[in-house]
Amino acid sequence: MVDHEFGDQHTELKLSIIEKYLKFFTTALRGKFRELWYIDGFAGTGYRTIRHQAVPPSLISEGEPERIERRRGSAKIAIDVYPRFDFLVFIENKPSYVRALEELRANHPDRRIVVVKNDANDGLKSLIAANNWTSTRAVIFLDPYGMEVDWSTLETIARTGAIDVWYLFSLAGFYRQATRDHDALDEDKRAALTRMLGTDAWERELYKATPVNDLFGGSDPSMRRDADVTALEAYAKARLETIFGAVLDPLPLPLHERPQRFSLFFCISSRKPAAIGLARKIGNHILKAGISS
Ligand SMILES: C[S@@+](CC[C@H](N)C(=O)[O-])C[C@H]1O[C@@H](n2cnc3c(N)ncnc32)[C@H](O)[C@@H]1O
Repeated sequence: MVDHEFGDQHTELKLSIIEKYLKFFTTALRGKFRELWYIDGFAGTGYRTIRHQAVPPSLISEGEPERIERRRGSAKIAIDVYPRFDFLVFIENKPSYVRALEELRANHPDRRIVVVKNDANDGLKSLIAANNWTSTRAVIFLDPYGMEVDWSTLETIARTGAIDVWYLFSLAGFYRQATRDHDALDEDKRAALTRMLGTDAWERELYKATPVNDLFGGSDPSMRRDADVTALEAYAKARLETIFGAVLDPLPLPLHERPQRFSLFFCISSRKPAAIGLARKIGNHILKAGISS
């Protein structure tokens, strides 16, 4: 058994949101399309390991030994969703996690499950190119640790008009790479931001000349990013809106930590008003329940 330790309470909330949407999706669309797919771009192992620290004995308690708990990760949650998905694709690049996913697949011989050992961007692009999206609808979950999702992958997904995406966007990646001081930007930071946002316009749009008084009373204009975390999140949302049919207001994660590290976006690739209306209504309902949790 491979241990995959990650996340905390925000992971719990994120996965409960995904599970609720997956249940809605297969319930609402069953019988309306030939096939319903679940695609996990950063699938992990199917489980997550939570290590509860030992509690030392004290005057009022005997203490507790360290305890290991295993909970379901996104891949296993998707397998368990009822009504069922017709086909599930788990993409993962870490060999030991791929083996764990293969074991998970072997434990469900009655299901159509494919485990793809690949980079998420390459895997998603070839999977999407190999399918005809007229009679298939899918949900993709993009749950990277950081800034691994390329803009070109999102464009490929959005062009299908047939896939809903839950995207854990690394806002911390955005505000760390887009340094406040323009002089601190380097070529690696620029490349990472451009790959994530799909344009190099962010450098012109986010940085402004700000006069800084020098020691002699003169003023030396320096370029700075004034946009705060909220403005950067709005910038990311506006970028996603250029390619998707609709993008809902994201859920900040962790919910009660400032600055937030992630924004959980729900992006709808359909351009059809009825499909957008339904997905928007349910997505908003689930996200609002998440905010008040
Ligand atoms: C946050 S975890 C995903 C957890 C999973 N959604 C779950 O609920 O169990 C991110 C996963 O992405 C994998 N990963 C990181 N970079 C990747 C890439 N470029 N392509 C595919 N998988 C990647 C990591 O090995 C890790 O398993």
